[in-house]
Amino acid sequence: MKDKIKILISEDKIQERINDLANIISNDYKNDIVMICVLKGASYFAIDLSKRIKNNVILDFMKVSSYGNSKESSGKIEFKLDISEDIKDKDVLIVEDIIDTGITLNYLYNYLQTKAPKSLKICSLLDKKERRKENIIVNYIGFEIEDKFVVGYGLDYAENYRNLPYIGYVE
Ligand code: IMP
Ligand code: MG
Repeated sequence: MKDKIKILISEDKIQERINDLANIISNDYKNDIVMICVLKGASYFAIDLSKRIKNNVILDFMKVSSYGNSKESSGKIEFKLDISEDIKDKDVLIVEDIIDTGITLNYLYNYLQTKAPKSLKICSLLDKKERRKENIIVNYIGFEIEDKFVVGYGLDYAENYRNLPYIGYVE
């Protein structure tokens, strides 16, 4: 991979913001939190965030795909992996890397809601607000970003660049 990646959000800024979010979340919840990490993109974020939350965190994973190998969403969601925990009457927090059109999170939110959790909230590291198609409430947002295709810290371009410690964009 030889693309030139420009830094948009530095490693330090990401880590500082995760500390803030973890403090806010720890204050908002009294009991255990079932954290549902949306694979693969949110994995780096969810793990770092969970380590700094003071509540007991039960970690679970889901996987859906909507993008294939291109930079544009297909708009269609394919279900790839379901949660393994029983979330009925639990406080559930969906952790996502980025909310773009909102189609993915809207789908996940509605699906998880059918399992009757006590509460269901969303935390997304990034928010590309201008691109929103679904009206969806994101309770915790790391950074609002402009309409650029970003990579790093879990986010990929055709599976590349996830392990960059910062968030950047391909020039
Ligand atoms: P949405 O359904 O349009 O909100 O898209 C959400 C999903 O698309 C995210 O979970 C990401 O996996 C992917 N995605 C959206 N924008 C980007 C980006 O800029 N870089 C990498 N992945 C992205
Ligand atoms: Mg994702």
